[in-house]
This record gives sequence, C-alpha cells and structure tokens, in this order.
Amino acid sequence: MEPLNETIESTEKPKSYLIRTFGCQMNEHDSERIAGLMEADGMIAATDVETADVVVLNTCCIRENADNKLYGTLGQLKSVKDRRPGMEIVVSGCLAQKDQEGIRERAPYVDLVFGTHNVHRATDLLHRSRIEGPLTEILAETVADDYELFPSAMPARRDQGHNAWVTIQIGCDNSCAFCIVPAVRGEEISRPFDRLLAEVAGLAADGVTEVTLLGQNVNSYGRDLTLAARQAGGTERVRPLFADLLRAVGAVDGIRRVRYTSPHPKDLRPETILAMAETPEVCDHLHLPVQSGSDRVLAAMHRGYTAERYLEKLAAARAAMPDLAVTTDIIVGFPGETDEDFECTLELAAAAEYDSAYQFIYSPRAGTEAAEWADQFVEPTVITDRFDRLKVVLERSALAKHEARIGRVEEVVIEGPSRKDPSVLSGRTGQNKLVHFASAQSLRVGTYAEVLVTGAAPHFLRGELVSVTAAARHRTRIPVSAG
Ligand code: 5AD
Ligand code: SF4
Repeated sequence: MEPLNETIESTEKPKSYLIRTFGCQMNEHDSERIAGLMEADGMIAATDVETADVVVLNTCCIRENADNKLYGTLGQLKSVKDRRPGMEIVVSGCLAQKDQEGIRERAPYVDLVFGTHNVHRATDLLHRSRIEGPLTEILAETVADDYELFPSAMPARRDQGHNAWVTIQIGCDNSCAFCIVPAVRGEEISRPFDRLLAEVAGLAADGVTEVTLLGQNVNSYGRDLTLAARQAGGTERVRPLFADLLRAVGAVDGIRRVRYTSPHPKDLRPETILAMAETPEVCDHLHLPVQSGSDRVLAAMHRGYTAERYLEKLAAARAAMPDLAVTTDIIVGFPGETDEDFECTLELAAAAEYDSAYQFIYSPRAGTEAAEWADQFVEPTVITDRFDRLKVVLERSALAKHEARIGRVEEVVIEGPSRKDPSVLSGRTGQNKLVHFASAQSLRVGTYAEVLVTGAAPHFLRGELVSVTAAARHRTRIPVSAG
C-alpha cells in the first residue's frame, strides 16, 4: 500500500452507524447482519441519532403502522440532516422492497434504499452511493443456491450475546390472503442442514447458549431440499425434517435453550411435537398463530385448517408436553368478519387457554388478496369493540396460566435490569415468561438462575432469586437498537 493511503487510513475517523429496527424478529435478525457488515467495514456503533454518521431504518411492512412509523421517523431525521448534511440515511427491509423508488419520492433526502434480498450488499451500496449519489437497489428474488445471500451466513453483531437468531429458511410458499410476506420475501428456501449446525456450533463456541430458529413456516423446513434431491433422480426420503433439525441443534455442545418461530398450524407434524418433547433443550413453548376461530374466515384467509383441527393439534402438543406454554397471533376485523365469526374467535381463544397472544387489527396491505375486498372491510368502531372483548378473554387465560406457576421454582436466563425499576432484575423462563425479581447480587445478562415464582400478572411473573445455575459465557455486546 502506498504511504499516502496509509496516512489517510490511519488518521480518518471511522464512521459511526445506528440501526433502528421496525417490525418482526426476522427484521431484527437482518439488522444484526447489517451491523455485522458495517463493523467489518471499519464502522463503529453510535449511541444516538444526533451523532451517527449513518442511520439505517430497517423497515417492516406487515402492518400499517409500520409505514407511519417509518415516514414519521424520516421526517425527524430530515431535521437532523438539515443541521448535519454529512449524515447518511439508509432505508432497508420489507417496506423498501415494497415501496422501492416510492421511498425516495416521498423522502428525497434518503441516500440509499435496499430491499430484503440484498442485505449482504449493505456496505457496498453505501460506498457506491457516496460516489454516485442517492441509490435504490431492490432485487426481485434471492438466488436459490447462493449461500452468501442468507442473512446468517454474513458477519453478525448481536445485541445480547447469550442468545442468537438463526435463519433456517427464508420466504414463504403459502398465500394467506392478508399477508405481504410472500410478495416481499419470495419463495421458501431452506438453508442446508450441515451449514446450520456449523453455524450453531460456532455460536456456541462464542458463548451463545440460546438460539431461536427463524422462518416464516418452519415446519416446512427442508421441503425444498427434499424436492431438489428427488428431481435429481433420488428415490429415498431425503432428510432433514424440521424435527431432525430441532434434535440436532439441541445436541450442540453449550446450547441450553432452543426456540423457534413460527410454525404454521397446518404443517405442525407429530414428529415435530415428539422432537420437542424428547429434546430437553427445546423450550416448553409453542407459538402457534391461529389468526381466527371462524372456519369461514380461516377459509377466506387460505389458512388450510379449521378451528377444530387447530385445537386437536394443540391438544396433541399438550399431551406430549404437559408443561407447554402456548401463544398465538389473532387478527381482528379481517374483511367480511361477522359478529358470528368473531364469537367463534372468542370461543376458540377461551378453549385454547393461551399463555399470551398478540392481537392485530386487520390492516390492508396493497398487493395482498384481502386488500382488494374493500366492500367487506369491517367498521373501525366494530373492530375496536371486538379487539377489547378479545383482550379480556386473552388476559383472563394469561393471568390464570401465570397464577398457576406461583410456588414453582423456574430457571430463567437474565435479560438485565427491569425497565421500570433498575434495582429489579428480569429473567425469561423456558416458557418465555418474564420474571421480575429483586437481587442483592448483580447478575450479568445471560446468567442462568433459579427463581421462586411468588406473584403473577397477565404479562409477567414476580419472583425471588434462589440460586445461580450457570454463568454467562458470551463476550460481545450489540449495537442494534429496536424501534
Ligand atoms: N393485518 C393485520 N395483522 C397481520 N399480520 C400479518 N399481516 C397482517 C395484516 N395485514 C399478523 C398475523 C401474523 C403476524 C406476524 O402479523 O397475525 O401472524
Ligand atoms: Fe404470511 Fe401466511 Fe406465509 Fe405466515 S404462512 S408468512 S402469514 S403467507
């Protein structure tokens, strides 16, 4: 290298970056990858927008308020950029994939827009935009056999070193009438089994003790790998199935907890339930999105199951794992939802006895089938009323489930001081419940401890520290902030 370059490189202050993530876990995962690429490019994490050289807004378009949040945040960033014109603004993620040039049309001060299929190009594109000016690059789809394009194959910085997300599959082959994911994430592609295991082993070697396997429809993991082998002339069933993956990841040395999200109820197989039951590392938690309790609405959504079938699958899972926590997603006000349909949802919610649930108000996403059914949209006041009634049913069962845990000793992993009271620590149980407890000892994030549950509320438990069971082993801290 020429001496001049060397001088420039050694005196130039590294650029700082800040990532704000909107939306789902998959998106937070992409944010980790973007952060990893930026660190690999010599950038450093900034702590706030006022000082960051590069601000990345990694967006989600699954629900309507994500748009409002993005354009609201962009408005605020514009005033920062007016004061500090050198600041670079980047928009990535699903909303970028969907709105493409529309983002820079609405917010021309944005420097770079890229989509969900070119996360791996984040820093290359940033460099190009510095030379060529504002840039939008959206790829239509991922190249199936290009391992480098999978987010997990890229360097990652993680915001809590003891746990990590591992993408096992991208895209979705279903066509739920409300959902934008197939349009923006493309067809389902599974990551090869051995590479996933190698990645988990690498994470465990870095001190990660908990992994969450991510995919839009994890139970169809491997389906494309199987088909690919058959097309190549093979006759035998080609493993792996998702169940095999659960067992293998649980067996990786150093991994104490395995979680996954989300299974589609229509594809939840007995093998998966058995693998959960027989692998102690797989947490006693099943997130099984039901969306509605009405068979008519489920059919209109193209979900591929009835309320009865869903409850049967749930019963089978609970029979295999008596201490299973179950959570769900429910959409209120899907187009055409009648009072009768909604009563069915209330009945199902009561019968399923959920530990907790995410309730969503239906929001039309342009490009989805249901968005075309404007003549059947439900009145907002009706939706609000239904939403509140459902909340009562869901909170009732959540509280009952939580109260049933009082007096038990549960292992938690420490997540840090409680947001409300820093003298109180928060930990998460295998069932994914938060427990707040006072502790004279300050315990590092990622420490495992036993806690006696002494109190319950619909969204958390209270407890007392009993003993520390395992020390945290990870080294890194992450620079990704959630929005
Ligand atoms: N409107 C409301 N909720 C939605 N979800 C997905 N798309 C929509 C939409 N258009 C919810 C579903 C899904 C969760 C991740 O987000 O319940 O399971
Ligand atoms: Fe969307 Fe349905 Fe695929 Fe889930 S299964 S990502 S809701 S299309």
